[in-house]
Amino acid sequence: MGKDFKSSNPNNKQRPNRGVQKSRNNRGNRGGIGSKKYTKPKTTITNHRLEGIFILKTGKEESLVTLNLNPGESVYGEKRVSIEEQVSLPDGTNTQPKKIEYRIWNIFRSKLGAAIINGIENIYMKPGSKVLYLGAANGTTISHVSDLIGEDGIVYGVEISKRSGRDLINMAKKRPNLVPIIDDARKPYNYRFLIPTLVDCIFADVAQPDQARIIGINAEHFLKDKGGFVFSIKANCVDSTLEPEVVFSNQIKVLKTFGLYAKEQVTLEPYERGHAVVSGIYKRKNVIKKYDEKDENEDNNENDENDENGDKEDKKDKKVEKVKEKKSKKSKKKNEEDDDE
Ligand SMILES: C[S@@+](CC[C@H](N)C(=O)[O-])C[C@H]1O[C@@H](n2cnc3c(N)ncnc32)[C@H](O)[C@@H]1O
Repeated sequence: MGKDFKSSNPNNKQRPNRGVQKSRNNRGNRGGIGSKKYTKPKTTITNHRLEGIFILKTGKEESLVTLNLNPGESVYGEKRVSIEEQVSLPDGTNTQPKKIEYRIWNIFRSKLGAAIINGIENIYMKPGSKVLYLGAANGTTISHVSDLIGEDGIVYGVEISKRSGRDLINMAKKRPNLVPIIDDARKPYNYRFLIPTLVDCIFADVAQPDQARIIGINAEHFLKDKGGFVFSIKANCVDSTLEPEVVFSNQIKVLKTFGLYAKEQVTLEPYERGHAVVSGIYKRKNVIKKYDEKDENEDNNENDENDENGDKEDKKDKKVEKVKEKKSKKSKKKNEEDDDE
């Protein structure tokens, strides 16, 4: 359980509350001697330790929430809560009350959400970040990433399944900071033209045996030096014969070969069995530079060849002209001599 996230269940043995619920105890008796009058529990919003995420508190219940970038709509049936907050007027002189809508993050349906509840220190994304999300599925978690980074950020969501991709595309129509990419994350060169700059963070949740390599090759293409990564590992899809802990440590070794250095690892128990989320920092080995240099060299070689060919053609033309000039001079001279005779 996260250090700063207090659940109404301190032992965390059972499922924590999924959202804001009225406790039955708060209802009291309806009438009669000694009956208590029902008072609606107070709802408050506070900042989470991680920027762009909030904690909604209703009575004793606490939930992780994000500010809804598309107010009035849920993405996967999650609850929405509107809170009246004091917001500054555009001229900054005063404040006025305004209803702000938050979406409750269902941590049983999101590995990133579960990792945050379980105390991950750094997710390398915040308002304004550029994020590459591998394995976006129907958009459950990526929708919260879209809320978290806000309208100044951008999230590119790669998903191989056309069916899930359809939902993702529909969601992106209402979220301008989300770019859906329906393609195979094993082929980053396919979508290179859609991601014009290096990103601050890669999040990967593809649940594939070669998932470490997939995040590695995407980092080579798109992650900035010292950028962050967040990697969800499903142990049994890599090797079901090994203990999950062994798989996690093997995967961390593979990440390292790509310059992805793990800084922390959190278990997703009790929300997901046999899963861990690993996050860390990327140390770029100038791979893209190599690619670019190669491309550039190829271009230059082509240009050099063209130039060479061009020069040859020019020389040939000059030679032909000289020969023609000589010939015409000769024939002119001959004509003059003939005339004299
Ligand atoms: C565990 S689900 C992701 C759930 C999602 N991250 C969420 O929390 O809402 C894994 C997803 O990765 C997708 N996937 C698997 N292999 C992929 C690949 N090579 N390229 C892109 N997506 C892939 C699957 O189609 C599936 O939708």
